[in-house]
Amino acid sequence: MEKIRIVGGRPLEGTVRIGGAKNAALPDVCAALLTEKPVILHNVPEVRDIRTMGHVLGDFGADVEFKVGGTVEIAARKLTSVEATYELVKTMRASVLVLGPLVARAGRARVSLPGGCAIGARPINLHLQALEKLGATIRVESGYVEAQAERLRGAEIQFDTVTVTGTENVMMAASLAHGETIMRNAAQEPEIVDLADLLIKMGARIQGAGGSTIRIDGVPTLHGAEHHVIPDRIETGTFVIACAIAGGDIEVRNCHPPHLRAVIDKLRETGLRVEEGPDNMRIRAPRTVRPSDVTTVPHPGFPTDMQAQYMALMTQASGTSRITETIFENRYMHVAELQRMGANIRVDGNTAIVTGHAPLSGAQVMATDLRASACLLLAALAARGETVVDRIYHLDRGYYRIDEKLRGIGADIERFDQGGRRATDALPAAEA
Ligand code: EPZ
Repeated sequence: MEKIRIVGGRPLEGTVRIGGAKNAALPDVCAALLTEKPVILHNVPEVRDIRTMGHVLGDFGADVEFKVGGTVEIAARKLTSVEATYELVKTMRASVLVLGPLVARAGRARVSLPGGCAIGARPINLHLQALEKLGATIRVESGYVEAQAERLRGAEIQFDTVTVTGTENVMMAASLAHGETIMRNAAQEPEIVDLADLLIKMGARIQGAGGSTIRIDGVPTLHGAEHHVIPDRIETGTFVIACAIAGGDIEVRNCHPPHLRAVIDKLRETGLRVEEGPDNMRIRAPRTVRPSDVTTVPHPGFPTDMQAQYMALMTQASGTSRITETIFENRYMHVAELQRMGANIRVDGNTAIVTGHAPLSGAQVMATDLRASACLLLAALAARGETVVDRIYHLDRGYYRIDEKLRGIGADIERFDQGGRRATDALPAAEA
């Protein structure tokens, strides 16, 4: 199993380029199922989850071509299957995003229930209730969802809880439904707006994406389109905190600062200097990191996907801070690993009390989920000595070559394969 080794204590200097947003590209890829015409996506991050989604669509009979430089061309001319198997879905929950498009395009879908994951139970009941409101017949048996619909028809849908992929599934399904759909308490993330922009380019009639009420007038068919995926706001925030925790002065390019307004505002409260440009930011770390409490909430509030990274920073603050996680019920798996590095954290229900001034020392640690693994890299940048992070396949699901990008701005970081060989020295596949 690959590992990453970091020797901490070096400030970061230089320029880092941000990739496309994984959580926008995933629904964007699924939107291609809604038409038999080609959909071309640019700035798609070359991360594992996107590859997996490509395989899922390939299993349905779609032609999926990954081109150089992050362009993906998808042509779902004819669907030969509408089944997403447990083997694939269990590796990536986002596969549930094929449900809405398949029912809308093919009139049926058989998708494995995703099952739980490290950060929580993460049911999909709201997705299923909404699809039933749109006229689908839903059956759940032996771990699979079977959905059928002659033709979906528009409906009024009120989400009990804000759900990002639930909003995306319904937006895609409703685009081909007969009549108007109104979604209330919809998710407002930038990734929702990105998907709506793509669907509108494909001929969908959508108003209000980015707000809590979205109106969709269904159309009979959608055509192909070409689209540039938005920058990844969570990768952006991860590098901003890398500079805050390690010290230094970096420029972050190909990003969109307004997409992480709540994160930037919070980090400014801790003393970080952030100069915003149209698609870049200059980040200068303060001598002292001030503590500041945070609660994760749906967009436009502070995102849960930045909670673990922020906690790493707060372990170095000049006082105590309280971090409250309201989105997922078990998103503190990184706490135990941070404590092994010397962090002083106490979890009380869904709040973590982080006492700062904790000098971190390098240790052997283990990644448990995508953002927890990023948190451990950040802590290692500030730790004295060597840290080895294991199970970094979690990291590669959502970050493209983050170790190379961190090395490019001065971090002492290396990736090793299971044989202990530096990945940069690893033999070419043919001899491996
Ligand atoms: C999306 O997951 C993201 N994934 C997650 O990013 C992100 O953490 C999450 O939104 C919250 O922002 C993708 O976009 C692919 P939700 P999603 O449905 O859609 C409950 C990462 O690190 N809920 O908004 O699955 C659910 O249990 C990943 O990139 C129901 O109860 O999240 C959770 O408590 C991790 N029933 C809350 O709502 C449902 O039917 C929010 O979940 C759906 C959700």
